[in-house]
Amino acid sequence: MAKPRAQFICQNCGTVYSRWAGKCDACGAWNTIVEEGTSGGIGGGPAAMRSARKGRPVALTSLQGEIEDAPRIVTGIAELDRATGGGFVPGSALLVGGDPGIGKSTLLMQAAAALASKGYRIVYVSGEEAVAQVRLRAQRLGVASAPVELAAETNVEDILATLADGKHPDLVILDSIQTLWTDLVESAPGTVTQVRSSAQSMIRFAKASGSAIVLVGHVTKEGQIAGPRVVEHMVDGVLYFEGEGGHHYRILRTVKNRFGPTDEIGVFEMGDKGLREVSNPSELFLGERQEKAPGAAVFAGMEGTRPVLVEIQALVAPTSLGTPRRAVVGWDGARLSMVLAVLEAHCGVRFGQHDVYLNVAGGYRISEPAADLAVAAALVSSMTSLALPADCVYFGEISLSGAIRPVAHAQARLKEAEKLGFGQAVMPASSEETLSGIGSKGFQPRMLIDLVSRIAG
Ligand code: TYD
Ligand code: MG
Repeated sequence: MAKPRAQFICQNCGTVYSRWAGKCDACGAWNTIVEEGTSGGIGGGPAAMRSARKGRPVALTSLQGEIEDAPRIVTGIAELDRATGGGFVPGSALLVGGDPGIGKSTLLMQAAAALASKGYRIVYVSGEEAVAQVRLRAQRLGVASAPVELAAETNVEDILATLADGKHPDLVILDSIQTLWTDLVESAPGTVTQVRSSAQSMIRFAKASGSAIVLVGHVTKEGQIAGPRVVEHMVDGVLYFEGEGGHHYRILRTVKNRFGPTDEIGVFEMGDKGLREVSNPSELFLGERQEKAPGAAVFAGMEGTRPVLVEIQALVAPTSLGTPRRAVVGWDGARLSMVLAVLEAHCGVRFGQHDVYLNVAGGYRISEPAADLAVAAALVSSMTSLALPADCVYFGEISLSGAIRPVAHAQARLKEAEKLGFGQAVMPASSEETLSGIGSKGFQPRMLIDLVSRIAG
């Protein structure tokens, strides 16, 4: 038999190398490549040498009824159900990733308790905390009386044996994948090989038993343990739980979903009794708005199917440096450079002698190009020290030629703005003929220069 060769695996992204290196070429991380034994069991090694068993293909059409009837496991926590696309799917595997301490265990304990109280059988396997600690947290959350079954196990084979006892559970929460280890491979817990093999065994269990499983994974910066990215491709859904330091709200973001839409978000606020749902995030992000300040524009954005209003703040100030500063928080720096260039080239607004700071209020992060117009409005407003109308929202994409391009979901954005008391909108000339309410009263510039002349008067 061939001698098992050592392999070197990046703990951040899972790329395999034949020799050690200081930097991973695939993901660019430093010091994340660690020697691991070759994996047995799955896809190689002695455990894979078993006799082949004949499979039985089934007709696609014969499955129709079964799939339609598969009931979702709905927690009743609306923000979580939205992010999962309507509840947990029996037989599926979901990954919940996030920084340590962000609130993953808290969220899942609340979900577990809500489901257990509805009569589902929920098993919460904690590899990080002792059963007593988990119970303490449940007490703090006010859900200690919910009939959730707790287990403090880390060995996959033991977990599977435990789960085989009695009626099969509806949902199994594994907190966290980095603590799991399987007898099939020899690497230490937390290494890529262990995390992948353990996840694989649990996912196979989910498919075979029909239980839904949730894998919790810590996002790691140091590369000491494998990050959740190394199992993203194996699971049916991936949610990331995010939050900004110093802010109490948390965003649950759908990154992958085989059974529903991605780009959805759920918004929560962390309090002393756990996570509270925030059903109207716009109110949260617009909370501390100073209406008469120059340099602030309200962007009517979308997160998946849901409109979110958020304030964009710009500060343009004369520079004392040779090269003026450009600093951005919550938006793309390259996109800011582009908007500045278009303002300079097509609208005659010069930023060469000015520092530019851009901030998205509340620590929120925007990825939509539709924010261009709001950013441009905030920049011009700060440059001219003229405050924008307080009851106006902005959205639209700016092209390099200075034209304003239409964006999707105009109607949904306008409806949200109207609900929150805004009276007008600056937006692209829309193909949606049915614009009503504030949309019909809005200003629809075709070129960015039209907006600049309107602001600067
Ligand atoms: P936790 O769910 O343990 O995070 P994770 O599992 O993602 O590592 O959350 C830990 C943090 O949340 C901790 O800093 C304390 C805080 N917290 C509250 O503010 N209120 C609460 O009710 C609970 C349970 C935790
Ligand atoms: Mg935890």
